[in-house]
Amino acid sequence: MLTGAGISAESGLKTFRDNDGLWETHRVEDVATPEAFARDPALVQRFYNERRAALSDAAPNAAHKALGRLQGALRDRGGALVLVTQNVDDLHERGGARDVIHMHGELTGGLCAACGHRWTVDGALTPDSSCPACGTIGGPRPDIVWFGEMPYRMERIETELACADRFVSIGTSGAVYPAAGFVHAARAHGLQTLELNLEPSLGTPHFADARHGPAGTLVPEWAGEVLAGLS
Ligand code: APR
Repeated sequence: MLTGAGISAESGLKTFRDNDGLWETHRVEDVATPEAFARDPALVQRFYNERRAALSDAAPNAAHKALGRLQGALRDRGGALVLVTQNVDDLHERGGARDVIHMHGELTGGLCAACGHRWTVDGALTPDSSCPACGTIGGPRPDIVWFGEMPYRMERIETELACADRFVSIGTSGAVYPAAGFVHAARAHGLQTLELNLEPSLGTPHFADARHGPAGTLVPEWAGEVLAGLS
């Protein structure tokens, strides 16, 4: 399973490419590349500090909770729901999901550019922040995968795609690779493919099945069908 910003939209977190999306009000080149961080670390840290602060006002919605329940039910029956997300929020975990694979990193994560140490950030990072491990001032950066950087856990994701029986994509525009290419790998492995999204996405033509509407409605319905099929 792959999720994108659309699954968190009904929790009040902005998506990227919808109306009023984050890339409507910020340029990727200014806040989401290593070059941007080198050029203006204060601006980049502010962008992620604002998004991290917004997390405390957001709550998991019915879609996050339905996936948490479905993952638990499958685990209890010896199955698995491997949840890969492009999202950097923690709403899947707060909705009950475990072992979430955050391929684009996490807002709550800090990473030291000097020593590679990772830790959970509580509050804001600034260019004057020092690494809790090596003490380097200015070393801390958000543990976010920026454009031009390699997404996390790609080998694990490719391994899971090769041994799954279905691939479900929820709330993503299919605009960014490698995530946008997962449906092609799924089809090559003969998986059933399903898209659940507010509206047709760039990936829709590649999915065998697609349902369009809000995730808060579609995901609990779909999860209920899967659960009914288990009993
Ligand atoms: N329910 C379901 N889908 C929704 C909802 C909703 N309530 N609201 C919006 N969507 C859909 C939109 O139709 C759109 O297709 O979610 C998708 C969001 O697309 P993007 O804003 O492009 O977000 P995403 O696909 O996650 O972006 C991928 O791009 O900028 C990078 O790193 C960033 O992880 C992000 C990646």
